[in-house]
Amino acid sequence: MPGSTAGDTLTQTRDFFITYAPVGSVRKGEVLVVDGGGGKTTPCAACHGPDLKGAAAIPPIAGRSPSYVVPQPYDIQSGARAGEAAALMKPVIQKLTVDDMAAIAAYLATRAP
Ligand code: HEC
Repeated sequence: MPGSTAGDTLTQTRDFFITYAPVGSVRKGEVLVVDGGGGKTTPCAACHGPDLKGAAAIPPIAGRSPSYVVPQPYDIQSGARAGEAAALMKPVIQKLTVDDMAAIAAYLATRAP
């Protein structure tokens, strides 16, 4: 955008979350991603690497757009995406609700890719 500044980008980012993420969901997602939400899931860094940027065959998840992150685990949970690698994710997302996944996605979108 001609004449745009870093300030414009920040405003756009903030608008994005106001539009799509329910209040508190970034914090809720952080608890799930970092601590596993008290046994509800496995801390993502255990497999996706300390910065969630991926490790070996495991894809990066930091900074992915919410529209990408939510449908992917949902496919694994429903069984639409199967296979050896997806099997690793299955216990991770088994107990997560769609709301949990949305919160996780909101948090991941705030991390540097
Ligand atoms: C036990 C290891 C393990 C843990 C813990 C784990 N993952 Fe994964 N994850 C994987 C593997 C392996 C894949 C690749 C699956 C495939 O290729 O089908 C994957 C894939 C994904 C994908 C799809 C990415 C893509 O590019 O297709 C997302 C999104 C994801 N994980 C999110 C998470 C989140 C969020 C957490 C924490 C709540 C988490 N994962 C915890 C192993 C893990």
